[in-house]
Amino acid sequence: MSASTNAPTPTAGQTLPNLASLNQSAAGMANGPAIQAIDLVKDYGTGDFAVHALRHVNVAFERGRFTAIMGPSGSGKSTLMHVLSGLDCATSGHVLFDGNDITTFDDKQLTLMRRDNVGFIFQSFNLLPMFTAEQNIAMPLTLAGKKPDRQWLHRLAADLGIEDRLSHRPAELSGGQQQRVAIARALITHPHVVFADEPTGALDSISSAEVLGMLRRLVDETGQTVIMVTHDAAAAAYADRAIVFSDGRIVADVDHPTEEGMSALVMEQRRATAQAAASNAAAPNAGPAGL
Ligand SMILES: Nc1ncnc2c1ncn2[C@@H]1O[C@H](COP(=O)(O)OP(=O)(O)OP(=O)(O)O)[C@@H](O)[C@H]1O
Ligand SMILES: [Mg+2]
Repeated sequence: MSASTNAPTPTAGQTLPNLASLNQSAAGMANGPAIQAIDLVKDYGTGDFAVHALRHVNVAFERGRFTAIMGPSGSGKSTLMHVLSGLDCATSGHVLFDGNDITTFDDKQLTLMRRDNVGFIFQSFNLLPMFTAEQNIAMPLTLAGKKPDRQWLHRLAADLGIEDRLSHRPAELSGGQQQRVAIARALITHPHVVFADEPTGALDSISSAEVLGMLRRLVDETGQTVIMVTHDAAAAAYADRAIVFSDGRIVADVDHPTEEGMSALVMEQRRATAQAAASNAAAPNAGPAGL
């Protein structure tokens, strides 16, 4: 069964933009996984107050695949995205980005790596309200002191169906349109990997389906690597693979996820977490109940 057969199909009459031209992002990449985490640990704070956000995580993300990450609030999903993308540093372990160990990079190298290789899409869009859609899309390049490739910017906007909204400010755009602007901004630098942290969390179901359909097509038609955090089993069903996180660890790793399968897994995980918490409360000195 191909992964895309699990993704909901667009409703009749719904047009999806032509993403076939966005094929430059997959060009010129090395072999091997796009990103690999090796024994990755991230602690916030130290001693009794330490939060163990990532507990020895080992995972590889293949190129040209769409991976969803699910799990309870506070389980470490965003932390994983931030450490993988070089936005935050690891406490220990390694992150191989295109084969390069970014945990050895200094701040300047990390900034350049992020600027040139990473696209980020956030739940809250994170567009700058005083700038137009076009200026927002160009922002990663503007901040780097570079001029955007106008042809590429307009092709992205056309393919994402927002070309006629480019002169508008975010407040004049719908949520779905704002997220399309954010997708264009994430793609303007031809990133090797796109990270999306709950990209549909603030959208209605129709806009969500459009945004997820676009991410799916980016992967299918351009070979883009996409890693997406979501709380929504239906959104995870658009992906080729779904990873479930709990308490800083990967507890499930599923190929070709379905909505029903992921809902069941997440429910099972919630029950296990609640049971572990209850047994810890009953025997507080027995140590953490392993998941
Ligand atoms: N900057 C920080 N300082 C201290 N603790 C942090 C920080 N960022 C995250 N944490 C903690 O690390 C753990 C993992 O947080 P993270 O944001 O990765 O969770 P999440 O799975 O993304 O949750 P959500 O689904 O709510 O977004 C949580 O216990 C959180 O409180
Ligand atoms: Mg999060």
